[in-house]
Amino acid sequence: MLILGLNMFHADASAAILQDGEIAFAIAEERLNRIKHYAGFPALAIQACLDAVGARISDVDHVAIGQDKDANLAKKIEYAVANPGKLLNFLQLRRRKQQMQDLRSLLARSLACDPGSLKFQEHHLEHHIAHIASAFYCSPWDRAAGFSYDGSGDFVSTMMARCHETEIEVLNRVFLPHSLGSFYTMICEFIGYNRYGEEGKVMGLAPYGKATYCDQVRQIIGTLNGEFRLNLRYFKSIGSNQGMKVLSDGTVQLARHFSERMQEMFGEPRLPHTDITQRDMDLAYAMQYWFEESFFHLLGELHERVPEERLAMAGGCALNSVANGKLFSRTPFRETWIQPAAGDEGLALGAALHTWHSVLKQPRRHSMKHSNLGPEFSPDKI
Ligand SMILES: [Fe+2]
Repeated sequence: MLILGLNMFHADASAAILQDGEIAFAIAEERLNRIKHYAGFPALAIQACLDAVGARISDVDHVAIGQDKDANLAKKIEYAVANPGKLLNFLQLRRRKQQMQDLRSLLARSLACDPGSLKFQEHHLEHHIAHIASAFYCSPWDRAAGFSYDGSGDFVSTMMARCHETEIEVLNRVFLPHSLGSFYTMICEFIGYNRYGEEGKVMGLAPYGKATYCDQVRQIIGTLNGEFRLNLRYFKSIGSNQGMKVLSDGTVQLARHFSERMQEMFGEPRLPHTDITQRDMDLAYAMQYWFEESFFHLLGELHERVPEERLAMAGGCALNSVANGKLFSRTPFRETWIQPAAGDEGLALGAALHTWHSVLKQPRRHSMKHSNLGPEFSPDKI
């Protein structure tokens, strides 16, 4: 049985293929078309998956997508009604997602085949469930606490789950506009790192800073009762991906996240490629500090709800290796399995594994032993 997982029309578009439940191949489109964080249709990645198993798209039994435009619809509507100025963003985003509606035509066009020959069943899975599936179903464990956090996906920034055998039971969601990913991105932008995916650089900048601004940055984010909240006065438009724009060539562009209030508090934002000052390093320090405080607060709550020693984790924020390094000293968790493709390229794998285990109820037999899931090159070719 072949299951094709996809992340498409979303940053880090990718494809993954399972053969009888075993991961056969997975790759992000950016590795093939050389467009960083490509957010269009992963045509080359799909073809590479099919080539790896010697199959045609008509041989595929299931196609699973790590995105569900109808998930959390009530919350999206509630937010849009309360923020009518952002309605246009919502409609644009929804229109973009409509492109996924006719998956058969898209695949047939891209792979030059007859749509009538396609027999697959189609599955749509909420973004953060796909993230958690990409970690738990790749781990060797039969039970664990599941955690996913990032900027946003399907109107959610954080998810907690109980994972057991072939079930992922969602226990809690943090909805937009509250997002640890957006908090991090906003301050990154303010100190001059305004390109999508530059957060890792600022994590590396943080140790050069001092605790000068920890008290001020505390006003931007707060934790309470196992959740966190942003002080929205420091943010410009936030919610439902308005902070992120996908251009017609599939590249991703960040809109400005920080409001004038950041300037009132910390002075002028740093322009990219100008000198990095002590102020910028100190802001990076304070941001990383409160990011970690919030992260450990959330994990404390998760452990209360799921008192396991094992934590399966994914989502773009799970790439914060500095925070991850403190996991065992700051939380009761004693083992962790973090999906190497914790960013959105891992959604394809998570969606495919979720179909195999949670939808088709196939038992757990395989775990992910390495992340060399892409193409191989012979010495001659190199
Ligand atoms: Fe994500």
